[in-house]
Amino acid sequence: MSIKFPFFKKRKKKRNISLDRDNMPRHVAIIMDGNGRWAQQRGLPRVAGHKEGMKVVKDTVKTAVKHNIKILTLYTFSTENWRRPKSEVDYILRLPKEFLHTYLPELMENNVRIETIGDFNGLPKHTKEAVQYAKDQTKNNNGLLLNFALNYGSRLEIINAIKQINQDINQAKLSIEALDETLFSNYLYTNNLLDPDLLIRTSGEQRLSNFLLWQLAYTEFWFTDVLWPDFKEEVFNDALHEYQQRKRRYGGI
Ligand code: IPE
Ligand code: IPE
Ligand code: MG
Repeated sequence: MSIKFPFFKKRKKKRNISLDRDNMPRHVAIIMDGNGRWAQQRGLPRVAGHKEGMKVVKDTVKTAVKHNIKILTLYTFSTENWRRPKSEVDYILRLPKEFLHTYLPELMENNVRIETIGDFNGLPKHTKEAVQYAKDQTKNNNGLLLNFALNYGSRLEIINAIKQINQDINQAKLSIEALDETLFSNYLYTNNLLDPDLLIRTSGEQRLSNFLLWQLAYTEFWFTDVLWPDFKEEVFNDALHEYQQRKRRYGGI
């Protein structure tokens, strides 16, 4: 039974959920969506949402480190995002440099290694240079793998894999009979990464938007209406908590 005190201002109840440290997803992938709407709701230009979202990336990385998650893959810019106005695209593609300039020392302290998936060569020079620098600086770290999906599109990834496989067959480096799921996976950007255990998408949209179509075959999905710039630690913990209640069967019983 709950007693209501209408004269008191409703306090935000602090959620206290307990997480099982032995049942953490090893790989979490996030579609960080809703930056534009977050800004629009405040009468701000869309890019203000991207800027705020960048800070949330930092906090989310910290939480992932705290929970000993092994891989965090963040959908940062899709191959379809080039359809946006040039000014917005330019702004988004400057953020990695700003992010790394601000947070690289902290990422180093936390033993974070930075990697990317996607068409790296299709990125502007300044983005490539900043990201490559961070990859080089962090390459010997063995804590969290922070994997940015940058200029990433899953269909393009699969097509490129097929082209490369065809080339290897023509050059007698591979026989078609040897091709199986594991070998095929090695031709994807994700190469030897384990598949995501948990996929989170913010902002209420329930679609994949060309993200990791192959790799998400047996991933648990978790959607929230929360917009990316509001994705606080408690929300992340809610997702982890729900993940821990799921029963993964992989087609078995
Ligand atoms: C996600 O936020 C960030 C990127 C796609 C780069 P959006 O910019 O898509 O925000 P909404 O969906 O328009 O609110
Ligand atoms: C997906 O979000 C891409 C990223 C978060 C980088 P979008 O906002 O681009 O997806 P759609 O257009 O709503 O499907
Ligand atoms: Mg969006």
